[in-house]
Amino acid sequence: MISILDQNFSQLNEFLNELQPSQILILVDENTHEYCLPKLLGNLVTDVSFEIIEIEAGEALKTIETATHLWEIFAEFAADRKSVLLNVGGGVITDLGGFAASTYKRGISFINIPTTLLGMCDASIGGKTGIDHLFLKNIVGTFATPEKIFVFPDFLQTLPFAELRSGFAEMLKHGLIADEKHWNDLIALENLTPENIAPFLETSMLIKQNVVEKDFKEQNIRKTLNFGHTIGHAVESLFLQKGKPITHGEAVALGMICETHLSFLENLIREKTAIIIVNNILRFFPYLPITEFSTDEMITLMKNDKKNEAGNINFSLLVGIGECKFDCLVSARNITYALHYYQNLTA
Ligand SMILES: NC(=O)c1ccc[n+]([C@@H]2O[C@H](COP(=O)([O-])OP(=O)(O)OC[C@H]3O[C@@H](n4cnc5c(N)ncnc54)[C@H](O)[C@@H]3O)[C@@H](O)[C@H]2O)c1
Repeated sequence: MISILDQNFSQLNEFLNELQPSQILILVDENTHEYCLPKLLGNLVTDVSFEIIEIEAGEALKTIETATHLWEIFAEFAADRKSVLLNVGGGVITDLGGFAASTYKRGISFINIPTTLLGMCDASIGGKTGIDHLFLKNIVGTFATPEKIFVFPDFLQTLPFAELRSGFAEMLKHGLIADEKHWNDLIALENLTPENIAPFLETSMLIKQNVVEKDFKEQNIRKTLNFGHTIGHAVESLFLQKGKPITHGEAVALGMICETHLSFLENLIREKTAIIIVNNILRFFPYLPITEFSTDEMITLMKNDKKNEAGNINFSLLVGIGECKFDCLVSARNITYALHYYQNLTA
């Protein structure tokens, strides 16, 4: 399913040659058009005709309006079930492109070529596509699997540092929930550069893929991928509402710190282990003050998370480094303590 591309993109060319699509549509945003498309086009060897579709960059474009715009373009280019869409971009492009492709004519093929770290080790894998609606993230979407995922790690060279670090939070999460060695390898990094991260990309991608293969529709083990996200999403929304957006990775790092402490409060891990985890996350993700948010407003947002069932807040918590338990129902008191723990950490 996932293939790491060589410098000539030969795996992609071979795959397209086997697929024999009627046409190739390539979806990019303004940044991936500038930084990634030239390399792709310079190596694309095919007789099949192709068209470039460019949209503006950013989460604000992950809407039904943009999806409609894409459906109109597909119709203009007379896309049929033999057409293939190449999603060349970060999570916004793979989510949006996957959504538009999987709904157009009840589904045309698509291939993901993620260009951000978050896209490579998380968003492009797992078959979730989606758009945001009525201020709710990913509230409309499909489960749809790309034909293939092609990863070219050199694309990370032009990625801004904040975006690189954002994806690194998901890699740390993969280590914490499923693979202690991966966690140890990552925390041993002196600094975050594409060169330092690249050797560990494949492990992260495989951890996500393995979990998803066991539980595509998120009935059980896939929920472990939500570690750090229950509190992380709530905090991400609050920063956004206050007009001070933070990256997804910063929110997840903060969420992982709180949920690690929560794992300790729930007697799932030892305090010493929790402190080691927290200190290592703080090495890569500086402390973010959240004292302006009340515990009540954070818990209210957690209760609204679409992953909850029957009004309960469902946490995935650590039972060790590399082991995670899902469907943990915790007391409101312990959630409050975990948030206070973070609020009282000093920079
Ligand atoms: N489907 C899933 O399972 C899943 C999982 C996690 C996140 N997501 C979604 O992913 C999205 C976030 O993805 P993201 O963090 O990749 O954001 P993004 O797609 O907005 O990309 C971040 C920024 O980096 C730019 N960029 C992309 N590649 C670049 C490159 N190689 N060089 C320079 N600039 C580049 C983009 O233009 C954009 O400005 C969110 O919408 C989130 O909901 C989906």
